[in-house]
Amino acid sequence: MDALELLEEDHKLVMELFKKAGEAQDEKEKRKIFREIYKELETHARIEETVFYPAMQENEELKHMVLEALEEHKQVKALLREIKNLKPGSEKFEPKLQVLLDNVQHHAEEEEEGKMFPKIRKILPGKLPGLGEELEAAAAANQFRRHCLWRFDLRELRHISGSG
Ligand SMILES: [Fe+2]
Ligand SMILES: [Fe+2]
Repeated sequence: MDALELLEEDHKLVMELFKKAGEAQDEKEKRKIFREIYKELETHARIEETVFYPAMQENEELKHMVLEALEEHKQVKALLREIKNLKPGSEKFEPKLQVLLDNVQHHAEEEEEGKMFPKIRKILPGKLPGLGEELEAAAAANQFRRHCLWRFDLRELRHISGSG
């Protein structure tokens, strides 16, 4: 998969998760799906920010688009954090999830159908296969990182309960 195909697959997967969340019967189920959305978007944003955007930013014609995309990422990540921190049963859960969906949809559309991806396909086609591999490796590394953090949390918890 080249870089753009990989990123488009990610977008599709996240939109499917949002659809599933919309169809979910109760809040518990919705929150479970939100946790998946969180994981997917966190990884997606990270690999774009660490691998994809820096490679694109070198190009004068793409620089402005990347800067705008980074600002949109900030908003999405802030929403993700806010939703994650909501107390169960909060009446803000649904509206914030809706605003998150609107933001993600707008951002993904701007990348795919706006000027960014079509322009990249035109001016940097040779870069895309190698960049796809780099993105895949970065996603795997992030998964491993998350796994380690989780193990670390677990150890901490054991330590705390052990010392109490
Ligand atoms: Fe993005
Ligand atoms: Fe994206």
